[in-house]
Amino acid sequence: MIDVQNLTMKYGSFVALDRISFQMQEGEILGLLGPNGAGKTTAMRILTTYLCPSSGTAKIDQFDILQNPIEVRKQIGYLPETAPLYSDMQVDEYIAFVGNARKMKGKLLEDRTNWVKDVCGIKEVWKHTISELSKGYRQRVGLAQALIHDPKVLILDEPTSGLDPLQIIDIRELIKGLARKKTIIFSTHILQEVEAMADRIVIINEGKIVAQGTQAELTEQVRKRGESKTAETLEDVFIAFLRSKRGAKKPAL
Ligand SMILES: Nc1ncnc2c1ncn2[C@@H]1O[C@H](COP(=O)(O)OP(=O)(O)O)[C@@H](O)[C@H]1O
Ligand SMILES: [Mg+2]
Repeated sequence: MIDVQNLTMKYGSFVALDRISFQMQEGEILGLLGPNGAGKTTAMRILTTYLCPSSGTAKIDQFDILQNPIEVRKQIGYLPETAPLYSDMQVDEYIAFVGNARKMKGKLLEDRTNWVKDVCGIKEVWKHTISELSKGYRQRVGLAQALIHDPKVLILDEPTSGLDPLQIIDIRELIKGLARKKTIIFSTHILQEVEAMADRIVIINEGKIVAQGTQAELTEQVRKRGESKTAETLEDVFIAFLRSKRGAKKPAL
């Protein structure tokens, strides 16, 4: 469903992404895990066709991001780091606005609106102005706009960041409820997020993929390399991969 091939992104001479490649099957949930500045947002902006890569490409459901960006946009729902909301609009007006922008109308728009209203748990705030909403509800409305056109692929940039523990659980449940029905990539710098939601993990650091696999596969990889004989939790694995990368560097003089 998703095929990322050697994506590289340079901002001037700074290499933010260095030949990253990964594939995803339909219905999978992939967690893009990495510290701040690793290149997660850059990768997502490229996949959503908001940024053009310096080299490499990706296909989403057979459509190439460079050759067919409009088709790619139709296939995906995107929740950026900051939900793209209009604070003066009411929730119902905003969802209708996004539906119209997606060229939806009539019965289809009505059915999809009822679906997102229900699935995203935004009935209680349906007639509220967006500026009144808590961060948790804003994030739900952000997810509703990403889902309104029933996309095959969801791209969620740090979907739980800045939420309180109960809001985090709600959003996780919401995302897990979409498992198998959608192909989902989400980014996070928080280990527990990938443990809670991802089928598969891509660990990214300083623009490079340092490891990928299921949690069990990653643990096994680290164990085989003898870097952490007792690596059991994903936290041990993550730290082992980041350390080995840093350890490989020449010390600054
Ligand atoms: N528009 C930009 N111009 C220059 N550098 C950028 C730009 N956007 C991101 N960067 C840099 O690229 C690196 C990766 O950023 P980003 O993709 O936002 O990482 P993440 O989402 O993993 O925190 C960071 O060092 C960041 O400062
Ligand atoms: Mg980011």
